[in-house]
Amino acid sequence: MARKILITGGAGFIGSHVVRRFVKLYTNDQIFNLDKLTYAGNLENLRDVESSSNYTFVKGDITDTEFIRNLFETHQFDGVIHLAAESHVDRSIHSPMDFVMTNVVGTVNLLNAAKGIWNGNYDGKLFYHVSTDEVYGQLGDEGKFLETTPYDPNSPYSASKASSDHFVRAYQHTYGMPVKISNCSNNYGSHHFPEKLIPLMINNIMQKKPLPVYGKGENVRDWLFVEDHAAAIDVIFHQGKIGDTYNIGGNNEWKNIDLVKFLCRLMDTKLGRAEGESEQLITYVTDRAGHDFRYAIDSSKLMGELNWMPSVTFEQGLEKTVDWYLANQEWLNHVTSGAYQSYYQNMYSNRS
Ligand code: NAD
Ligand code: TYD
Repeated sequence: MARKILITGGAGFIGSHVVRRFVKLYTNDQIFNLDKLTYAGNLENLRDVESSSNYTFVKGDITDTEFIRNLFETHQFDGVIHLAAESHVDRSIHSPMDFVMTNVVGTVNLLNAAKGIWNGNYDGKLFYHVSTDEVYGQLGDEGKFLETTPYDPNSPYSASKASSDHFVRAYQHTYGMPVKISNCSNNYGSHHFPEKLIPLMINNIMQKKPLPVYGKGENVRDWLFVEDHAAAIDVIFHQGKIGDTYNIGGNNEWKNIDLVKFLCRLMDTKLGRAEGESEQLITYVTDRAGHDFRYAIDSSKLMGELNWMPSVTFEQGLEKTVDWYLANQEWLNHVTSGAYQSYYQNMYSNRS
């Protein structure tokens, strides 16, 4: 029987990859994409699937209780994959309340709306919440985050995501709602808004602008290709255990400065520049407040139970990503015009 699946935040970076995958693979299902289209949401990301007969876009705000309740009542969704969020740590340091509203209040609105229409009849229903490894806090030089690692969020962003995870879990415990949660490491790939490290550096290298590395560039992140995250969400949604949490990561740790240098070398080759030219753009700037030192994910549960594996190496994924940005400069021009300029000015002018 055809299912109705609501994907929130589907016009954003990861959400657009999830929507594309579900629309193309699950042609018997009706896929609804609910997105407010904030600065991070862009319908250009979904041009290739927008006219598919099993796809519907709905513009709306997850914090709007009435609107969300009506939407659920009208469409009677069977499943929810919730990705809509404010997602950038630096913005959360400047405007924490935006993160409370969308990430916490928005998530509880969705949970209430799902609870309302499902009304205790949970057969075949699922609320899947997409979260981050940042809820676990930071690591020192050793160790990795497990599903059992205690929550210890440090930034307003990770605190808001941790809070939303707790609400999702509480709706399972209290009301018996079938839920799943996944906590993923840093993603990279196409359609990534150039405020996050990798797309920002790609954009600045292309434009020969300074490459702002926070602090000494010693912080470590564990990078996963976005299409591999979408594949993990697919397998967890369809085959994961109800009530379980799954960690998702690429087993691919990089110090920021090493990653930026690697990207510079790759792009020098792609752009026909002299070796070492782009590295000269590296500029060390004031560190992020409360900057988490290291994240690393242990995804052996997901690999062992559900047979998921990353499909590309970091070298392959990064090359695909750079090629996409070089071929899609119009996309970059659109998203970096207007408000992006003032964002960049505010965020980076007082850093150097
Ligand atoms: P993003 O910022 O690129 O996209 C977020 C999307 O949510 C945008 O399309 C935006 O318009 C939409 N949105 C924001 N507020 C909304 C609201 N009030 N109502 C409806 N829509 C709204 O984010 P992303 O990087 O694609 O992340 C998606 C999810 O995955 C988030 O929940 C994030 O916490 C999680 N996550 C991200 C990463 C990462 O590396 N980017 C890693 C792990 C988990
Ligand atoms: P980011 O992409 O913002 O992801 P997160 O903070 O969620 O991990 O940042 C990745 C790392 O890169 C993080 O350690 C901060 C650092 N960083 C810079 O050094 N310069 C930048 O301009 C940005 C955006 C991030």
